[in-house]
Amino acid sequence: MTPDLSVNFCGIKFPNPFILAAAPTTDDGEVVARAFEAGWAGAVLKTTSVEKEPVELVYPQMGAIEVNGQKLIGMVNIDLISKRHIDQVEKDVRNLKKAFPDKVVMASIMGSRKEDWQELVFRLEEAGVDMIECSFSCPHGMPERGMGSTIGQNPELTERTARWVKEAAKRVPVMIKLTPNVTDIVPIARAVKNSGADAVCAINTVLGLIGIDLDTFSPLPSVDGMGIYGGVSGPAIKPIALHFVSKIARNVDIPISGVGGISTWKDAVEFLLVGARTVQLCTAPMHYGFRIIDDLIDGLSAYLEEKGFKGVEEIIGLSLPRLTSYEHLSRTHKVRSQIDLDSCIKCGLCYVSCRDGGHQAILLREDRTPVVDEEKCVGCALCPQVCPVGAISLKRIQ
Ligand SMILES: Cc1cc2nc3c(=O)[nH]c(=O)nc-3n(C[C@H](O)[C@H](O)[C@H](O)COP(=O)(O)O)c2cc1C
Ligand code: SF4
Ligand code: SF4
Repeated sequence: MTPDLSVNFCGIKFPNPFILAAAPTTDDGEVVARAFEAGWAGAVLKTTSVEKEPVELVYPQMGAIEVNGQKLIGMVNIDLISKRHIDQVEKDVRNLKKAFPDKVVMASIMGSRKEDWQELVFRLEEAGVDMIECSFSCPHGMPERGMGSTIGQNPELTERTARWVKEAAKRVPVMIKLTPNVTDIVPIARAVKNSGADAVCAINTVLGLIGIDLDTFSPLPSVDGMGIYGGVSGPAIKPIALHFVSKIARNVDIPISGVGGISTWKDAVEFLLVGARTVQLCTAPMHYGFRIIDDLIDGLSAYLEEKGFKGVEEIIGLSLPRLTSYEHLSRTHKVRSQIDLDSCIKCGLCYVSCRDGGHQAILLREDRTPVVDEEKCVGCALCPQVCPVGAISLKRIQ
Protein backbone atom coordinates (compact mmCIF):
# COMPACT_ATOMS: atom_id res chain seq x y z
CA MET A 1 0.00 0.00 0.00
CA THR A 2 1.29 3.47 -0.85
CA PRO A 3 2.19 5.25 2.40
CA ASP A 4 0.07 8.23 3.45
CA LEU A 5 2.25 11.35 3.16
CA SER A 6 -0.33 13.69 4.65
CA VAL A 7 0.21 15.33 8.03
CA ASN A 8 -2.00 17.21 10.40
CA PHE A 9 -0.33 20.42 11.49
CA CYS A 10 -2.28 22.68 13.87
CA GLY A 11 -5.55 21.19 12.62
CA ILE A 12 -4.69 21.76 8.95
CA LYS A 13 -4.25 18.79 6.65
CA PHE A 14 -1.13 19.06 4.50
CA PRO A 15 -1.09 16.62 1.55
CA ASN A 16 2.64 16.10 2.22
CA PRO A 17 5.03 17.69 4.75
CA PHE A 18 6.94 19.83 2.21
CA ILE A 19 6.52 23.60 2.43
CA LEU A 20 8.38 26.43 0.71
CA ALA A 21 9.92 28.64 3.42
CA ALA A 22 9.58 32.43 3.40
CA ALA A 23 12.15 33.65 0.88
CA PRO A 24 12.49 35.38 -2.50
CA THR A 25 10.99 32.16 -3.92
CA THR A 26 7.68 32.98 -2.27
CA ASP A 27 7.68 36.72 -2.93
CA ASP A 28 5.32 36.53 -5.88
CA GLY A 29 1.96 34.74 -6.08
CA GLU A 30 2.48 33.62 -9.66
CA VAL A 31 5.77 31.96 -8.79
CA VAL A 32 4.17 30.23 -5.80
CA ALA A 33 1.40 29.00 -8.12
CA ARG A 34 4.08 27.27 -10.18
CA ALA A 35 5.42 25.60 -7.04
CA PHE A 36 1.93 24.40 -6.10
CA GLU A 37 1.49 22.94 -9.56
CA ALA A 38 4.81 21.14 -9.10
CA GLY A 39 3.49 19.45 -5.95
CA TRP A 40 4.51 21.50 -2.91
CA ALA A 41 1.92 21.18 -0.14
CA GLY A 42 2.16 24.74 1.07
CA ALA A 43 4.16 27.94 1.02
CA VAL A 44 5.00 30.65 3.51
CA LEU A 45 4.82 33.89 1.55
CA LYS A 46 7.83 36.14 2.09
CA THR A 47 7.60 38.25 5.23
CA THR A 48 5.46 41.33 4.69
CA SER A 49 4.69 44.46 6.69
CA VAL A 50 2.19 47.33 6.78
CA GLU A 51 2.36 49.91 3.98
CA LYS A 52 3.95 52.63 6.10
CA GLU A 53 6.96 50.45 7.01
CA PRO A 54 9.79 51.47 4.62
CA VAL A 55 11.81 48.54 3.25
CA GLU A 56 15.02 49.60 1.56
CA LEU A 57 17.08 46.74 0.17
CA VAL A 58 20.79 46.73 -0.69
CA TYR A 59 22.60 44.75 -3.39
CA PRO A 60 24.36 42.37 -3.82
CA GLN A 61 22.62 40.29 -1.19
CA MET A 62 24.17 36.85 -1.31
CA GLY A 63 27.42 35.01 -0.89
CA ALA A 64 28.25 31.34 -0.53
CA ILE A 65 30.76 28.73 0.56
CA GLU A 66 31.94 26.37 -2.16
CA VAL A 67 33.67 23.16 -1.05
CA ASN A 68 35.66 21.13 -3.60
CA GLY A 69 33.61 22.54 -6.45
CA GLN A 70 30.29 21.88 -4.74
CA LYS A 71 28.33 25.12 -4.76
CA LEU A 72 26.17 26.59 -1.99
CA ILE A 73 27.29 24.32 0.85
CA GLY A 74 26.44 27.36 2.91
CA MET A 75 24.80 30.53 1.65
CA VAL A 76 24.64 33.93 3.31
CA ASN A 77 22.03 36.59 2.58
CA ILE A 78 21.53 40.17 3.67
CA ASP A 79 18.02 40.34 2.23
CA LEU A 80 15.29 41.89 4.35
CA ILE A 81 11.57 41.36 4.48
CA SER A 82 9.59 41.83 1.27
CA LYS A 83 9.34 45.19 -0.47
CA ARG A 84 5.81 44.09 -1.30
CA HIS A 85 3.59 45.32 1.48
CA ILE A 86 0.42 43.75 2.83
CA ASP A 87 -1.80 45.25 0.09
CA GLN A 88 0.01 43.16 -2.53
CA VAL A 89 0.27 40.06 -0.36
CA GLU A 90 -3.48 40.16 0.31
CA LYS A 91 -4.02 39.91 -3.46
CA ASP A 92 -1.61 36.96 -3.72
CA VAL A 93 -3.41 35.15 -0.90
CA ARG A 94 -6.80 35.67 -2.57
CA ASN A 95 -5.58 34.49 -5.98
CA LEU A 96 -3.72 31.48 -4.59
CA LYS A 97 -6.61 30.31 -2.42
CA LYS A 98 -8.98 30.64 -5.36
CA ALA A 99 -6.75 28.67 -7.71
CA PHE A 100 -5.47 26.12 -5.15
CA PRO A 101 -8.08 25.60 -2.42
CA ASP A 102 -6.35 22.41 -1.22
CA LYS A 103 -2.89 23.93 -0.83
CA VAL A 104 -1.84 25.62 2.39
CA VAL A 105 -1.17 29.33 2.00
CA MET A 106 0.74 30.77 4.91
CA ALA A 107 1.77 34.39 5.27
CA SER A 108 4.80 35.62 7.19
CA ILE A 109 4.50 38.94 8.96
CA MET A 110 6.66 41.42 10.85
CA GLY A 111 5.63 44.61 12.59
CA SER A 112 7.15 47.20 14.89
CA ARG A 113 4.02 48.06 16.93
CA LYS A 114 1.09 46.09 18.35
CA GLU A 115 -1.34 47.83 15.98
CA ASP A 116 0.75 46.81 12.97
CA TRP A 117 1.03 43.14 13.99
CA GLN A 118 -2.71 43.01 14.58
CA GLU A 119 -3.64 44.87 11.40
CA LEU A 120 -1.56 42.38 9.39
CA VAL A 121 -3.43 39.49 10.98
CA PHE A 122 -6.90 41.02 10.41
CA ARG A 123 -6.19 41.73 6.77
CA LEU A 124 -4.63 38.34 6.04
CA GLU A 125 -7.48 36.44 7.68
CA GLU A 126 -9.90 38.51 5.65
CA ALA A 127 -7.98 37.61 2.47
CA GLY A 128 -8.35 33.91 3.30
CA VAL A 129 -4.89 32.88 4.52
CA ASP A 130 -4.64 29.42 6.17
CA MET A 131 -1.95 30.16 8.73
CA ILE A 132 0.14 33.09 9.98
CA GLU A 133 3.88 32.81 10.56
CA CYS A 134 5.57 35.58 12.55
CA SER A 135 9.19 36.33 11.89
CA PHE A 136 10.85 37.06 15.24
CA SER A 137 14.08 35.93 13.69
CA CYS A 138 15.73 37.83 10.82
CA PRO A 139 19.34 38.03 12.12
CA HIS A 140 20.47 41.24 10.42
CA GLY A 141 17.44 43.36 9.57
CA MET A 142 15.66 46.23 11.25
CA PRO A 143 16.84 45.86 14.88
CA GLU A 144 16.66 49.67 15.21
CA ARG A 145 12.89 49.33 14.83
CA GLY A 146 12.62 46.47 17.35
CA MET A 147 12.04 43.97 14.56
CA GLY A 148 13.66 40.67 13.55
CA SER A 149 15.69 38.62 15.99
CA THR A 150 15.58 41.38 18.60
CA ILE A 151 12.23 39.85 19.52
CA GLY A 152 13.16 36.19 19.22
CA GLN A 153 16.24 36.60 21.41
CA ASN A 154 14.18 37.73 24.37
CA PRO A 155 11.55 35.50 26.06
CA GLU A 156 9.49 38.45 27.39
CA LEU A 157 9.33 40.21 24.01
CA THR A 158 8.59 36.89 22.34
CA GLU A 159 5.68 36.12 24.65
CA ARG A 160 4.28 39.65 24.49
CA THR A 161 4.42 39.93 20.71
CA ALA A 162 3.10 36.39 20.12
CA ARG A 163 0.18 37.23 22.43
CA TRP A 164 -0.70 40.30 20.34
CA VAL A 165 -0.80 38.18 17.22
CA LYS A 166 -2.69 35.33 18.83
CA GLU A 167 -5.21 37.79 20.28
CA ALA A 168 -5.88 39.16 16.78
CA ALA A 169 -6.13 35.79 15.01
CA LYS A 170 -9.74 34.69 15.22
CA ARG A 171 -9.72 31.92 12.64
CA VAL A 172 -6.23 30.71 11.73
CA PRO A 173 -3.34 29.16 13.68
CA VAL A 174 -0.30 31.26 14.54
CA MET A 175 3.26 29.98 14.20
CA ILE A 176 6.30 31.82 15.52
CA LYS A 177 9.55 31.53 13.57
CA LEU A 178 12.54 31.37 15.90
CA THR A 179 16.13 32.49 15.58
CA PRO A 180 19.01 30.12 16.31
CA ASN A 181 21.10 33.10 17.42
CA VAL A 182 20.42 32.49 21.11
CA THR A 183 22.22 30.64 23.89
CA ASP A 184 19.20 28.50 24.77
CA ILE A 185 16.15 28.04 22.58
CA VAL A 186 14.03 26.38 25.29
CA PRO A 187 12.96 29.54 27.22
CA ILE A 188 12.03 31.17 23.91
CA ALA A 189 9.95 28.17 22.77
CA ARG A 190 8.30 28.11 26.22
CA ALA A 191 7.46 31.79 25.85
CA VAL A 192 5.71 30.97 22.57
CA LYS A 193 3.77 28.18 24.26
CA ASN A 194 2.79 30.51 27.14
CA SER A 195 1.54 33.12 24.69
CA GLY A 196 -1.05 30.65 23.40
CA ALA A 197 0.43 30.59 19.88
CA ASP A 198 -0.07 27.29 18.06
CA ALA A 199 3.34 26.28 16.71
CA VAL A 200 6.97 27.19 16.25
CA CYS A 201 9.08 27.20 13.12
CA ALA A 202 12.80 26.55 13.66
CA ILE A 203 15.14 27.85 12.43
CA ASN A 204 15.75 31.09 10.62
CA THR A 205 19.28 31.76 9.34
CA VAL A 206 22.41 31.57 11.49
CA LEU A 207 24.31 34.83 11.96
CA GLY A 208 27.62 34.61 10.14
CA LEU A 209 30.35 36.18 8.03
CA ILE A 210 30.69 34.12 4.87
CA GLY A 211 34.09 35.44 3.77
CA ILE A 212 36.41 38.31 2.95
CA ASP A 213 37.55 39.46 -0.49
CA LEU A 214 41.33 39.04 -0.35
CA ASP A 215 41.97 41.81 -2.90
CA THR A 216 39.68 44.53 -1.60
CA PHE A 217 39.60 43.35 2.07
CA SER A 218 35.84 43.84 2.04
CA PRO A 219 33.56 41.45 3.92
CA LEU A 220 31.26 39.51 1.56
CA PRO A 221 28.79 40.19 0.09
CA SER A 222 30.42 43.55 -0.51
CA VAL A 223 28.13 46.56 -0.85
CA ASP A 224 30.35 49.31 -2.24
CA GLY A 225 33.32 47.98 -0.26
CA MET A 226 31.49 47.42 3.02
CA GLY A 227 29.81 44.38 4.54
CA ILE A 228 27.72 43.21 7.50
CA TYR A 229 27.08 39.94 9.31
CA GLY A 230 24.39 38.07 7.41
CA GLY A 231 22.15 35.04 7.72
CA VAL A 232 23.65 31.67 6.78
CA SER A 233 21.41 28.98 5.29
CA GLY A 234 21.82 25.77 3.28
CA PRO A 235 23.39 22.36 4.06
CA ALA A 236 26.00 23.88 6.41
CA ILE A 237 23.35 24.78 8.99
CA LYS A 238 21.49 21.45 9.06
CA PRO A 239 23.22 20.19 12.25
CA ILE A 240 22.32 23.45 14.01
CA ALA A 241 18.70 23.21 12.88
CA LEU A 242 18.39 19.55 13.91
CA HIS A 243 19.76 20.46 17.32
CA PHE A 244 17.22 23.24 17.79
CA VAL A 245 14.25 21.25 16.51
CA SER A 246 15.06 18.25 18.70
CA LYS A 247 15.74 20.45 21.72
CA ILE A 248 12.36 22.13 21.40
CA ALA A 249 10.63 18.79 20.82
CA ARG A 250 12.20 17.31 23.97
CA ASN A 251 11.32 20.23 26.19
CA VAL A 252 8.19 22.02 25.00
CA ASP A 253 4.90 20.46 23.94
CA ILE A 254 4.25 22.47 20.77
CA PRO A 255 4.03 21.49 17.07
CA ILE A 256 7.22 22.28 15.12
CA SER A 257 7.85 23.11 11.48
CA GLY A 258 11.51 22.24 10.85
CA VAL A 259 13.72 24.29 8.54
CA GLY A 260 17.42 24.79 7.96
CA GLY A 261 19.66 22.98 5.49
CA ILE A 262 17.13 20.54 4.08
CA SER A 263 17.98 19.58 0.49
CA THR A 264 16.98 15.92 0.16
CA TRP A 265 14.27 13.54 1.34
CA LYS A 266 16.82 12.04 3.74
CA ASP A 267 17.36 15.43 5.39
CA ALA A 268 13.59 15.83 5.66
CA VAL A 269 13.18 12.41 7.29
CA GLU A 270 15.80 13.35 9.88
CA PHE A 271 13.80 16.45 10.83
CA LEU A 272 10.61 14.39 11.12
CA LEU A 273 12.41 11.81 13.27
CA VAL A 274 13.46 14.50 15.74
CA GLY A 275 9.98 15.91 16.07
CA ALA A 276 9.17 18.26 13.18
CA ARG A 277 5.63 17.73 11.81
CA THR A 278 6.25 19.67 8.61
CA VAL A 279 9.47 20.75 6.90
CA GLN A 280 10.30 23.94 5.08
CA LEU A 281 12.93 24.46 2.39
CA CYS A 282 14.45 27.68 1.10
CA THR A 283 18.03 27.43 -0.18
CA ALA A 284 17.52 24.07 -1.95
CA PRO A 285 14.61 25.23 -4.16
CA MET A 286 16.52 28.50 -4.77
CA HIS A 287 19.46 26.38 -5.97
CA TYR A 288 17.80 23.53 -7.85
CA GLY A 289 14.29 24.80 -8.57
CA PHE A 290 10.82 23.60 -7.58
CA ARG A 291 11.23 20.27 -9.36
CA ILE A 292 13.09 18.82 -6.35
CA ILE A 293 9.64 18.19 -4.89
CA ASP A 294 9.42 15.05 -7.08
CA ASP A 295 12.50 13.55 -5.44
CA LEU A 296 11.39 14.66 -1.98
CA ILE A 297 8.01 12.97 -2.35
CA ASP A 298 9.29 9.83 -4.09
CA GLY A 299 12.15 9.39 -1.62
CA LEU A 300 9.98 9.86 1.46
CA SER A 301 7.33 7.52 0.11
CA ALA A 302 9.85 4.78 -0.78
CA TYR A 303 11.52 5.10 2.62
CA LEU A 304 8.24 4.73 4.51
CA GLU A 305 7.24 1.76 2.39
CA GLU A 306 10.60 0.03 2.79
CA LYS A 307 10.50 0.49 6.56
CA GLY A 308 6.91 -0.72 6.79
CA PHE A 309 5.35 2.55 7.98
CA LYS A 310 1.80 3.36 6.94
CA GLY A 311 2.40 7.09 6.83
CA VAL A 312 4.48 10.12 7.82
CA GLU A 313 2.65 10.57 11.13
CA GLU A 314 4.19 7.29 12.38
CA ILE A 315 7.78 8.52 12.19
CA ILE A 316 7.41 11.93 13.81
CA GLY A 317 9.68 12.09 16.87
CA LEU A 318 10.82 8.45 16.66
CA SER A 319 14.45 9.36 17.37
CA LEU A 320 13.75 11.56 20.37
CA PRO A 321 13.95 8.78 23.02
CA ARG A 322 17.42 7.98 21.65
CA LEU A 323 18.82 11.42 22.45
CA THR A 324 20.48 11.38 25.85
CA SER A 325 23.31 13.05 27.74
CA TYR A 326 26.99 12.12 27.71
CA GLU A 327 27.03 10.42 31.09
CA HIS A 328 24.33 8.01 29.93
CA LEU A 329 26.25 6.75 26.89
CA SER A 330 27.59 3.16 27.12
CA ARG A 331 31.20 2.77 28.24
CA THR A 332 31.31 -0.88 27.21
CA HIS A 333 30.31 -0.41 23.55
CA LYS A 334 33.45 -1.03 21.43
CA VAL A 335 33.93 -0.71 17.66
CA ARG A 336 36.88 -1.06 15.27
CA SER A 337 37.50 0.15 11.74
CA GLN A 338 37.25 -2.40 8.92
CA ILE A 339 38.26 -1.80 5.31
CA ASP A 340 36.61 -3.43 2.31
CA LEU A 341 39.64 -3.94 0.08
CA ASP A 342 37.49 -4.71 -2.95
CA SER A 343 36.22 -1.11 -2.96
CA CYS A 344 39.45 0.54 -1.73
CA ILE A 345 41.22 2.63 -4.38
CA LYS A 346 44.42 2.87 -2.29
CA CYS A 347 44.33 6.66 -2.05
CA GLY A 348 45.97 6.62 1.39
CA LEU A 349 43.66 9.26 2.89
CA CYS A 350 42.64 7.03 5.79
CA TYR A 351 46.28 6.34 6.59
CA VAL A 352 47.11 10.05 6.70
CA SER A 353 44.09 11.08 8.74
CA CYS A 354 44.49 8.30 11.30
CA ARG A 355 48.23 8.96 11.56
CA ASP A 356 47.93 12.74 12.03
CA GLY A 357 44.47 12.68 13.56
CA GLY A 358 45.80 10.98 16.63
CA HIS A 359 45.91 7.18 16.57
CA GLN A 360 48.42 5.82 14.03
CA ALA A 361 46.29 2.68 13.67
CA ILE A 362 46.37 2.33 9.86
CA LEU A 363 49.48 1.05 8.10
CA LEU A 364 50.12 1.24 4.37
CA ARG A 365 51.66 -1.81 2.73
CA GLU A 366 54.20 -1.29 -0.03
CA ASP A 367 51.47 -1.55 -2.66
CA ARG A 368 49.50 1.14 -0.68
CA THR A 369 46.93 -1.29 0.66
CA PRO A 370 45.70 0.03 4.03
CA VAL A 371 45.67 -2.33 7.02
CA VAL A 372 44.03 -1.58 10.36
CA ASP A 373 46.02 -2.43 13.49
CA GLU A 374 43.17 -3.59 15.73
CA GLU A 375 45.28 -3.12 18.86
CA LYS A 376 45.79 0.57 18.12
CA CYS A 377 42.40 1.38 16.58
CA VAL A 378 40.11 2.94 19.18
CA GLY A 379 37.13 3.10 16.81
CA CYS A 380 37.04 6.90 16.73
CA ALA A 381 35.23 6.91 13.32
CA LEU A 382 37.47 9.47 11.63
CA CYS A 383 38.59 7.22 8.76
CA PRO A 384 35.07 6.29 7.50
CA GLN A 385 34.38 10.03 7.18
CA VAL A 386 37.43 10.66 4.98
CA CYS A 387 37.29 7.60 2.71
CA PRO A 388 36.16 8.91 -0.71
CA VAL A 389 34.60 5.59 -1.80
CA GLY A 390 32.90 4.47 1.41
CA ALA A 391 35.20 1.46 1.81
CA ILE A 392 35.50 1.82 5.59
CA SER A 393 32.90 0.84 8.16
CA LEU A 394 32.92 0.22 11.87
CA LYS A 395 32.37 -3.27 13.22
CA ARG A 396 31.17 -3.91 16.71
CA ILE A 397 33.54 -5.99 18.79
CA GLN A 398 31.82 -5.64 22.17
C1 LIG B 1 17.50 35.13 0.45
C2 LIG B 1 16.72 34.70 1.65
C3 LIG B 1 15.66 35.46 2.11
C4 LIG B 1 14.92 35.07 3.22
N1 LIG B 1 13.86 35.81 3.63
C5 LIG B 1 13.13 35.42 4.70
C6 LIG B 1 11.97 36.14 5.10
O1 LIG B 1 11.57 37.11 4.48
N2 LIG B 1 11.32 35.73 6.22
C7 LIG B 1 11.72 34.64 6.94
O2 LIG B 1 11.08 34.30 7.94
N3 LIG B 1 12.79 33.92 6.56
C8 LIG B 1 13.50 34.27 5.46
N4 LIG B 1 14.58 33.53 5.07
C9 LIG B 1 14.98 32.36 5.88
C10 LIG B 1 14.45 31.06 5.30
O3 LIG B 1 13.04 31.03 5.27
C11 LIG B 1 14.97 29.83 6.09
O4 LIG B 1 14.52 29.92 7.42
C12 LIG B 1 16.49 29.72 6.08
O5 LIG B 1 17.01 30.08 4.82
C13 LIG B 1 16.97 28.32 6.44
O6 LIG B 1 16.46 27.35 5.55
P1 LIG B 1 17.32 26.74 4.29
O7 LIG B 1 18.61 26.24 4.84
O8 LIG B 1 16.42 25.70 3.71
O9 LIG B 1 17.53 27.88 3.36
C14 LIG B 1 15.31 33.90 3.93
C15 LIG B 1 16.37 33.13 3.46
C16 LIG B 1 17.08 33.50 2.33
C17 LIG B 1 18.20 32.63 1.87
S1 SF4 C 1 38.56 4.41 13.60
FE1 SF4 C 1 39.94 6.08 14.25
S2 SF4 C 1 41.59 4.98 15.31
FE2 SF4 C 1 40.52 3.43 14.12
S3 SF4 C 1 41.62 3.32 12.20
FE3 SF4 C 1 39.96 4.79 11.88
S4 SF4 C 1 40.87 6.80 12.35
FE4 SF4 C 1 42.22 5.22 13.18
S1 SF4 D 1 40.56 6.18 2.37
FE1 SF4 D 1 39.32 4.49 1.54
S2 SF4 D 1 39.97 4.30 -0.57
FE2 SF4 D 1 41.52 5.51 0.46
S3 SF4 D 1 43.03 4.01 1.11
FE3 SF4 D 1 41.63 4.26 2.81
S4 SF4 D 1 40.11 2.67 2.54
FE4 SF4 D 1 41.20 2.87 0.62
